[in-house]
Amino acid sequence: MARETWATRTGFILAAAGSAVGLGNIWRFPWMTADNGGSAFLAVYLLVVLGVGVPGLLGEFVIGRRARRNPMGALRDLSGSRYWGAIGAVSAVTGVALLSFYSVVGGWILRYLLVSIVGPVTGGAPYLASPGPYFDSISFGVEAALFHLGFLAVTGGIVFGGVRRGIELGTKVMVPAVLVLLVGMASWVVTQPGAAAGYQFFLEFDLATLQANAASVIAPAAGQALFTLSVGAGTMVTYASYLGEDRSLPFDGAVIALLNTGVGVLAGLVVFPLLFSQGVDPGTGGPGALFVSIAGAFAALPGGDLLAIVFFGVVALAALSSSISMLEIPVAVLVDEGGWSRGTAVGVLLALTALTGTVTALNPALFDFVAGTLADLLLTGGLLAFLLFAGWVLGPDSIEEYVAGAGALGARFATPWLFAIGVVIPIFLVFTLLTTAGLDAR
Ligand code: PHE
Ligand code: NA
Repeated sequence: MARETWATRTGFILAAAGSAVGLGNIWRFPWMTADNGGSAFLAVYLLVVLGVGVPGLLGEFVIGRRARRNPMGALRDLSGSRYWGAIGAVSAVTGVALLSFYSVVGGWILRYLLVSIVGPVTGGAPYLASPGPYFDSISFGVEAALFHLGFLAVTGGIVFGGVRRGIELGTKVMVPAVLVLLVGMASWVVTQPGAAAGYQFFLEFDLATLQANAASVIAPAAGQALFTLSVGAGTMVTYASYLGEDRSLPFDGAVIALLNTGVGVLAGLVVFPLLFSQGVDPGTGGPGALFVSIAGAFAALPGGDLLAIVFFGVVALAALSSSISMLEIPVAVLVDEGGWSRGTAVGVLLALTALTGTVTALNPALFDFVAGTLADLLLTGGLLAFLLFAGWVLGPDSIEEYVAGAGALGARFATPWLFAIGVVIPIFLVFTLLTTAGLDAR
């Protein structure tokens, strides 16, 4: 059977943007920014997105489109070496590891969405009365594991549909819906009294905090930049492998990065003014931050019931369009390399991630480790491998692939790009790997 391809160019862009836009933008980004000096952190993060994230994204695109295979098969076929194949196979593990905590958070969101919908009928959503204790009571344990299974099942259902009828169709609906609803919420929030303090909190350029913490800000900013763009996991290799014809990779990459950053900023423009308008302390980061503070703000708002449904609906869609891209990595490996049917691959991987995710949902310390250190190490190490591969193993072939369909403007960046991904960025990634390990050792 012929390997599937995207039906349209927009389909590929929306699928990749859907992978990028996710919990990283709505759940992690606003608080990371607030904790690290407001827009000063934003500035560092934007620099890393531009200087590392986008060139890295293009590195994965080049590998995927050239090989038209999953990360394992791509590295092996393009190099002719089984060892590179083994390195590429780590991507399948990364997909499973990411899903194991992402689906747990997805389960929390499904639960908040559900109780927001039935809340008005049953006398108010339970999180309204006591946001903090409610979150603590549902975040880990047997019920968290069950909701995680629900989120996984939906993820598996979409991926089972295939590249065109599952992923492409799904993201064509989900991504525009997220954008429209977020813009709507952000414009509504402007009208709330007291919102100004939220904008100030989010966007104030606090140079002092940045200067005081420069060394400890760069590594988290780098980790966030990779995570948010879905770079280093092999998702983007896999998605680009379904490209049927040569389109401009640099142009598509720029659109995807812009959409992703835009959603992050939009989320901040919704979350912080909302909190400040209700006098809720944004507090610090941590897994519960979004759920506790936002739910607290909804409690006090007129129309908060409806707003909660829209908000958690948006977060659920954003999370799903990312989780499907995590599952697609190991699915592609099993289908391409093992000759499995898509149905069998999805079934077996759902069983596996149901198990690993359940263990994570029962174990807060493990959750912190997988969502933090392990994710950072896998993405940073993964990107390092992809870029060294594109820079040194493919070498001039990378340029050829980069330029194909790129037009005169895009092609102009090809040579500086190869130098960046072969030399400059690897040095930077090794530095962040060491810093991450060093920070965690403290
Ligand atoms: N980019 C996604 C987010 O921001 C997370 C993700 C990482 C998805 C790696 C796929 C691969 O939520
Ligand atoms: Na993102």
